[in-house]
Amino acid sequence: MNLVLKTILISFFTVLPLLVSSKEKIKSTEVASPDKTLKIRVSIKSGVPFYSLFHLGKPLLSDSRLGFVLKDQPALDKDFKIASSTSSSFDETWTQPWGEVKTIRNQYNSLVVVFEELSDLKRKMTVEFRVYNDGIGFCYILPQQDNLKDFVILDELTEFALTSDMDAWWIPAYGKEMDSEYLFRHNKVSELAEKVHTPLTLESKGLYLSFHEAALVDYASMTLYNKGSNTLKCDLVPWANGDRVVTSTPMRTPWRTLQVANKPGDLITSYLILNLNEPNKLGDVSWIKPGKYNGMWWGMHIKTHTWEGGPKHGATTENMKELIDFASRHKLSAVLAEGWNEGWEGDWTVSGNFSFTKPYPDYDLDVISDYAKSKNIGLIAHHETGGNVLNYERQLEDAFKLCAKYDIHRLKTGYVNHRPAGEYHQGQFMVRHYQKVMEKAAEYKIMLDVHEPIKDTGLRRTYPNMMTREGGRGTEYEAWSSGNPPEHTTIIPFTRCLGGPFDYTPGIFDIRFNTEGTFRVHTTLAKQLALYVIIYSPLHMAADLPSNYDGNAAFKFIEDVPTDWETTKVVDAEIGKFVTTVRKDWNGNDWYLGSITNSEARTMQVSLEFLKPGKKYTAEIYQDGRGAHVDTNPLPVDITTREVSASDKITLTLAPGGGTAIRFHEKD
Ligand code: NOJ
Ligand code: CA
Repeated sequence: MNLVLKTILISFFTVLPLLVSSKEKIKSTEVASPDKTLKIRVSIKSGVPFYSLFHLGKPLLSDSRLGFVLKDQPALDKDFKIASSTSSSFDETWTQPWGEVKTIRNQYNSLVVVFEELSDLKRKMTVEFRVYNDGIGFCYILPQQDNLKDFVILDELTEFALTSDMDAWWIPAYGKEMDSEYLFRHNKVSELAEKVHTPLTLESKGLYLSFHEAALVDYASMTLYNKGSNTLKCDLVPWANGDRVVTSTPMRTPWRTLQVANKPGDLITSYLILNLNEPNKLGDVSWIKPGKYNGMWWGMHIKTHTWEGGPKHGATTENMKELIDFASRHKLSAVLAEGWNEGWEGDWTVSGNFSFTKPYPDYDLDVISDYAKSKNIGLIAHHETGGNVLNYERQLEDAFKLCAKYDIHRLKTGYVNHRPAGEYHQGQFMVRHYQKVMEKAAEYKIMLDVHEPIKDTGLRRTYPNMMTREGGRGTEYEAWSSGNPPEHTTIIPFTRCLGGPFDYTPGIFDIRFNTEGTFRVHTTLAKQLALYVIIYSPLHMAADLPSNYDGNAAFKFIEDVPTDWETTKVVDAEIGKFVTTVRKDWNGNDWYLGSITNSEARTMQVSLEFLKPGKKYTAEIYQDGRGAHVDTNPLPVDITTREVSASDKITLTLAPGGGTAIRFHEKD
């Protein structure tokens, strides 16, 4: 057996570095997942570095390029040898401080390959591959070296050369909508737009793939360029001047990730993105608390209130007191106030001339804060920047000091502008900005909910105050656009939500709030309830006006449903058609089920085997009532209870555009 092959095999079992005599020329090297279903092969062909991926022995990605084009320096793309290749294994189980699941197993085999230029420069480019049972991640590491110090990346050459033309659920990158706030499209990889956003989810013959990235820090976000011939290529979001990344050695890129699953639901319960992030850097995070909130928000979107001061001003002391009263009566933990601060007059998406310290005169922060404290309700500050990031950064410290003064530990930010400060939301400039705000917020013990954010790459593991974000087409679009058709929420759990929590702002009960106009919500009321289970967010909003909840028995589900889960299971799903998910309360023994459908009615049987055997539960069922239909009759909800146990099956009957929400309350 040749030395190289022998040492690879040994290292698999002994976790020892691969030792290769300097005279040996390594042409290729491999690493497989712990369960051996996935295997990566790394190779050099005529000096060009490639990797390929196999699933059960069959190629999933054929030879795909690695490397960089640099500004004013020779590219790091050819003339390489493999200088060394080191494999090892890792297996640990870690506990989240909060989350969709309490404990996560992080088990992988890794291969660290050092490529070295044969030419005089002898520059080194290391690629670390990690192969999990549920996918792969790899990142570039450019070590400190004489011939590579400060540099600008003009292009990252990473490719994903698919071996077949798969089905894809995708949204475009760099489009005209606010960043990633698109409806997903479904067609073949060959029909993708030129550049698409990640997570990009694909399917072929019962195998599901999702491309994304993990731990995006001080780098540009990766979009995927459709090169043709089923090959996708990394396309980094540029700075305004066309540069992609400004950096220096030593540096490491974010992880390029590919999740691989046999069922769509297994993409949701894959925690590969989190596993590829660094552990908690914040130390004691007991101050971080998931929960539900209401606030001064939907009224502005449906125009019953305004952000700016005036007769319809929403964020007034009086209105805030009512919202606080409502929150305290209904087990919500915090209240959001949008439009509390000066600067909303005129087109704020152009000026972004906000003050983050000066409240409008009819918003008395002293009174509101005292009132909220007396009711044990937190306040959620709001910093809409209108994309004027420099104005925000100038005020950042003072803005956070104001939060500290009033004991405010939750903050929603916003970046409504197509090019914040002239840069893309997903470029390195904004990556740095979002990181800065996240770190500053942590310093002030503030939990974050970011709208128009940088895409989620799992940094909440490292910074658990980074709780939730938008980064997708949320409920706001139902207020003033053609809205979110019923299939939208049956797609996003398998696309946008694979990145992480989504502040979707569900819970609209007044589905046809605007019977005179064309705007409305495109679900039944029961489906609004189910979304609290389907879409994971540690901060979930009860988004409708309190008056639309008063007296409606269905609101009890929103009161009861937790936002912190010990376990999550996807019972059954078809992307774009339906999803049924169950989750167990982190702090109790109850289980919750959410099931939603697209515009088709559906009847499904669900086995309750997820419940604890031998225990009895009261199932509190909220389902589409008789004759319910998203278009013609969205409001009827049947609320029933029955006793069930793990050996039972339950039949779900979903109306077109409908859903079912169930609380399984454990009996003593
Ligand atoms: C867009 C956000 O997504 C929305 O939630 C917010 O109300 C507006 N910006 C105003 O900040
Ligand atoms: Ca938005």
